Amino acid sequence: MGANPSNGGVPILAVVDVADYRDRFPILAETTYLINHSLAAMPAAAEDRILEYTRTWRTRGIRAWGEGWWDLPLTVGDQVGRIVGAPPGTVCMHQNVTIAVAVILSCFRPPPPRNRIVYLEGEFPSVRYLLQAQPEVEIEVVPDLDALLDAIDERTLLVPVSHVLFKTAELQDVAVVQRRAEEAGAHVVLDAYQSAGAVPLDVGRLGVAFAVGGSVKWLCGGPGAGWLYVRPDLIGRLEPALVGWQGHARPFAFEPELEYAEGIARFLTGTPNVPALYAATAGYDVIEEVGVETIRQRSLELTDLLIGLADEAGFEVTSQRDQARRGASVTIRVPGFEGVHKELAGREILCDFRPDVGLRLGPHFFNTGDELEYAIDQIADILASGAHERHLGAAARF
Ligand SMILES: Cc1ncc(COP(=O)(O)O)c(C=O)c1O
Repeated sequence: MGANPSNGGVPILAVVDVADYRDRFPILAETTYLINHSLAAMPAAAEDRILEYTRTWRTRGIRAWGEGWWDLPLTVGDQVGRIVGAPPGTVCMHQNVTIAVAVILSCFRPPPPRNRIVYLEGEFPSVRYLLQAQPEVEIEVVPDLDALLDAIDERTLLVPVSHVLFKTAELQDVAVVQRRAEEAGAHVVLDAYQSAGAVPLDVGRLGVAFAVGGSVKWLCGGPGAGWLYVRPDLIGRLEPALVGWQGHARPFAFEPELEYAEGIARFLTGTPNVPALYAATAGYDVIEEVGVETIRQRSLELTDLLIGLADEAGFEVTSQRDQARRGASVTIRVPGFEGVHKELAGREILCDFRPDVGLRLGPHFFNTGDELEYAIDQIADILASGAHERHLGAAARF
């Protein structure tokens, strides 16, 4: 194990030369940025991309649509596809995961008995709300993976499952879920929001029917760039009811009747979110350049270190210790964690907290061991001095 100079005295294997990347994420110069599971640090290049967008709009005007804007949901989708193991032409972009899942749901008008959707209680609320609002489906919520596998049967239509659970950062064995779903004739909807860009993922090899995610977190792509993958054999067979003119075979013929586009474009709706798609590619470029395997190796080292530091400080670690079940964040429950979070923010250490699990710390590959040591030291200092007590009762936001 070699010491990385940018980590000071904390030995971290130099799988990536972090010093090469720190300047490319300007917020790192001012803050200890450990909230990459929520809104990852912005790559400086995103600002250039937004300027490129406005320059194109200013100088090319309407011609910009034909010069790339119209196709952005597919060209950008192909770049996401490279990161998550999806072949070209199988990923398209939407505003967010909720819309992407709504498009999936709209492909099915399920008569009983195959009208059940089963999912873990740890699924992200936005997706849960959408599923609960569907009048024609029956929902079953289960506490853990074993119960999920038991619940999947010939009545199951969809199995939405998060690759990494948002609250606890627990990595799920998606292959096992996919096998069970396949036996039962159900479709897995993989939510890879908390893994894409941090944990290696190959949706093609997994064989899941659908995968969705966004770009706000580990992909460093900012808001407004959700993605939807559909398995190649399903693309031509499905007809989403939530469709718009981008999903038409000949959108510029403005025909009165719907005829679905041939490929993944049939899963699109209306006018794309152009500025968000410009900005997002800056993050994807960095993730592709470093490589998700390398990021994962670095992430495991950083989270190992974080867990070790928390243990030394006597803090309760509520997330997975086992590397095989660990996502990219660590949760730590300390007394009055809401107030500790607020006090940390005042000290330019950014993280968040979730009820039940405590503080969430999400280092990305560009964070250093020194930053983790500093964050844990500051938590200890806050607790020892009682500085957090004036903030107690703060609500969880972001
Ligand atoms: C696992 C997971 N799914 C979905 C979302 C968000 O969904 P949406 O893109 O609809 O806001 C998040 C977090 O923001 C998440 O952690």
